[in-house]
Amino acid sequence: MLDTKFQILVNMVTLDDVKNNPQILEFINQTEEAMEALSYTNHGLRHSNIVAQRAMEIAKNIGLNNREAELAAMAGFCHDMGNFLTRTFHHFFGAQLFGQVFMGKFDPKELAMIMQAISNHDKDEMNFVHAVSAVLVLADKSDVDRSRVAKQSLEETKADIHDRVNYATTESDIKVEKGKKRITLKLKIDTKFCPVMEYFEIFTERMVFCRKAAQFLGYDFGLVINDFELL
Ligand SMILES: [Fe+2]
Ligand SMILES: [Fe+2]
Repeated sequence: MLDTKFQILVNMVTLDDVKNNPQILEFINQTEEAMEALSYTNHGLRHSNIVAQRAMEIAKNIGLNNREAELAAMAGFCHDMGNFLTRTFHHFFGAQLFGQVFMGKFDPKELAMIMQAISNHDKDEMNFVHAVSAVLVLADKSDVDRSRVAKQSLEETKADIHDRVNYATTESDIKVEKGKKRITLKLKIDTKFCPVMEYFEIFTERMVFCRKAAQFLGYDFGLVINDFELL
């Protein structure tokens, strides 16, 4: 929980401030272009908005307060914006960029919390130190969707396993059941484009991250694909 003095600051940076910041929008735009040039799945504005929205929903559904939910959404919006500098260390650079843009404008504790969440979201060894960082991982890793595929043709899409899995996923939804202490990722995969096994081939690590994040929050993590409960 945040210190209550942070919640009564008059000039708190809001989610809208972050979403409308020209510097942040340019970093996301540059990332979108850089990822397109590399034929990677979408890491631009579409993904930023979805992760921000999911982070907000998950945070509220597990009982974080409104400000914490807003911080999770800010981290969600900005989490991938470091990709235009480096894919490998984008989490680290994204956190640095956020700090540079908002240094002195945020409450220091809030700023550190968002920077840590961004820096942590794609690390090999994730280290959850607060709920916001765990919420971000769940929101980010659950965004698997056909519309993230950047390839121009179906033939190109079919040639790459990441694209096949993303393209085959027609629906993804993450549900929090507070009473049951369970967070479930539900996917619909069109098996005409990829067998479910291919999903596991590339997404096992993501699911491990989700389970770790859920456990940190005191929840079990479940995975349902095409109405079959797999975890
Ligand atoms: Fe990322
Ligand atoms: Fe992401």
